[in-house]
Amino acid sequence: MIWASIITPKGSEADRIAGVWWLMFGLATFVYVVVAGLIVYATVRGRRRRARTSNLREDAFIWIGGVAAPVLILFVLAVVTVHTTEALRRPARDALSVDIEGKDWWWGVSYPGTHIVTANEVHLPVDRPVDLRLTSDNVIHSFWVPELAGKQDVIPGQPNHLTFTPEATGTFVGRCAEFCGLQHAHMEIRVIVQTPADFGRWQARQEATRTEPVSDEAAAGAAVFQAQACAGCHTVRGTNANGTVGPDLTDFGERQTIGAGLLENNPRNLADWIRDAPSLKPGTIMPSFHSLSDRDVQQIVAYLESLR
Ligand code: CUA
Repeated sequence: MIWASIITPKGSEADRIAGVWWLMFGLATFVYVVVAGLIVYATVRGRRRRARTSNLREDAFIWIGGVAAPVLILFVLAVVTVHTTEALRRPARDALSVDIEGKDWWWGVSYPGTHIVTANEVHLPVDRPVDLRLTSDNVIHSFWVPELAGKQDVIPGQPNHLTFTPEATGTFVGRCAEFCGLQHAHMEIRVIVQTPADFGRWQARQEATRTEPVSDEAAAGAAVFQAQACAGCHTVRGTNANGTVGPDLTDFGERQTIGAGLLENNPRNLADWIRDAPSLKPGTIMPSFHSLSDRDVQQIVAYLESLR
């Protein structure tokens, strides 16, 4: 599991949020130390007997410590919070648009104006503003990649936008942050931030026409994939497979995980997944295929892992 934290920001929005977080943490620590110090002082000093008369110095202490200081602290926090929230929602110019759709339980990813469709992994160029358009085709999810930006609800019929600029290359892991059913915990999104050159190469490769299967095994797998139910639910661009129920598999071999972060993408896990996905991810729409022979499964695996 890759470490993901709001206090190691690698995106413009997360940066701002982390700033507010540190300010709140600093002020809270300061108040805690002062109050704890006074309690210790009062305990050590003990009770003193004296006449009950009003004392100007004690009154001032109450007015400053109990009224003026809290009002000032809350005022500063209110101004900073409102200012930051307003800055977060400012639309960016020249932003790269990416459409993200919350599914049961995975993420569909597409790039408007291109043919690129993928799943559970978003490729972005570093230092360029991005505008994520978030929708759902089922229930409410929440898109959250802590190192890049704050949470944003993903609601059916209500596109929400998340705008930020990634500030470092690398892979950033996100989660669904709104309980959305049985596999809420297995709805991982990975954001792969690349240099502009690497991103350009990725885009060009995605847009390129696919070549024929790389091996006889893969070619046989392609035939099984078409003949079995696979092609009815999944799309592989450039073939007759154009189902839209499950993730687009055109670049499957390049993806890091299977089942939205459930398993590492390797031939062994893929074979297990094809044979019996529901036992690995109960509730998934992907059915089990116990009827496939081991040979069929191996060929499909060879085919899918060759797609990139
Ligand atoms: Cu999707 Cu929780």
